[in-house]
Amino acid sequence: MTDINRQLILGIETSCDETAAAIVAGGRIILSSVVASQIDLHSEYGGVVPEIASREHVKSILPVIDRALKDADKALGDLDAIAVTYGPGLVGALLVGVSAAKGLAAATGLPLVPLHHLEGHIASAYLADQTLEPPFLCLIVSGGHATLAEVSDYTTFRVLGRTRDDAPGEAFDKIARTIGLGYPGGPLIEQAAQGGNREAFPLPMTRFPDSFDFSFSGVKTAAINQYRKLMQQADREGSKWPTCCSEKDFAATFQEAIVRTLVSHTADALKDTGYRSLVLGGGVSANQRLREAMSVMAEEQGIRLTVPSLVHCTDNAAMIGAAGYYAWKSGRRAGLDLNADPMAELDELASFYENRDQNDEN
Ligand code: KG4
Ligand code: ZN
Repeated sequence: MTDINRQLILGIETSCDETAAAIVAGGRIILSSVVASQIDLHSEYGGVVPEIASREHVKSILPVIDRALKDADKALGDLDAIAVTYGPGLVGALLVGVSAAKGLAAATGLPLVPLHHLEGHIASAYLADQTLEPPFLCLIVSGGHATLAEVSDYTTFRVLGRTRDDAPGEAFDKIARTIGLGYPGGPLIEQAAQGGNREAFPLPMTRFPDSFDFSFSGVKTAAINQYRKLMQQADREGSKWPTCCSEKDFAATFQEAIVRTLVSHTADALKDTGYRSLVLGGGVSANQRLREAMSVMAEEQGIRLTVPSLVHCTDNAAMIGAAGYYAWKSGRRAGLDLNADPMAELDELASFYENRDQNDEN
């Protein structure tokens, strides 16, 4: 049993449009988790505006950290380490969290632990199932990522496939914007898809030979072209949507195309690698249809599936506090020269260890 008064990590996350801080004990127990979302500010632009995101992070970061400490009834002196997302993400946004973490580490003498954003999404599964341990295969799907990776232990990752163009969340956001639903698109498409026909028109599924890489630009473009055709038909019929395909049919068919690709890739990767445990994470993993289809596949193949609770699918700092605990225990450290890295890679964390060979992570 984890002693909740020990091994306390402050997690800080500012890689995109959420300013978040959390206190997590022993990598598993959330004492507090504060997320200041900027969604309302960005929604009028139909997507995240980097300059606005940075400015909002600057405004919110100290009050959010303060709130996280107060909610947990802890002081900085009670902490064991400060974990911060240093990449990937928007550079101006990441810099705010990294600077705050460095300032706190300098002032308190606490260890500074750099975290890859996707490690956080993976660790959100540790918060959902206290008994989950590596090794497992993970699929992280968000606004910026579609990444299939092997997690051989808490801090060792090998990327098997990633998107070569758009991320699934990005495709959801673009399609939602195209059909006038707003931002963020994922939840709005999911809502619009309720009760719709999932096979209203054909959409392509991209696969690369000998690779688990993803591509979503083809399906996105095909859906946009289909939408234009449907709107012409609707014009002729004098209605908002044509009788052959309503808004809910369109949303359900698009959603299903994304889900089908994600499930089929993951099923193949499980067969190929032999893993019996699968973790799903990232904003798009909040999608109920994806969760349902993935759990049917997992059940058929006898795979243990762990999905984060809905609040921990999208960006938060509890996941950084959880991942931060394991990174801290493994000896990962950064100096006060830590910089934000918008292109950070999940399998290139070796430079943060004093005695870890780069090859250890490959
Ligand atoms: O993980 P996240 O909060 O931020 C990134 O690291 O990108 O993911 C945000 C993305 C957005 O593109 C949003 O549209 C998508 O996750 N998303 C969803 C759902 N909820 C959020 N996509 C599909 N269905 C959802 N229910
Ligand atoms: Zn994320």
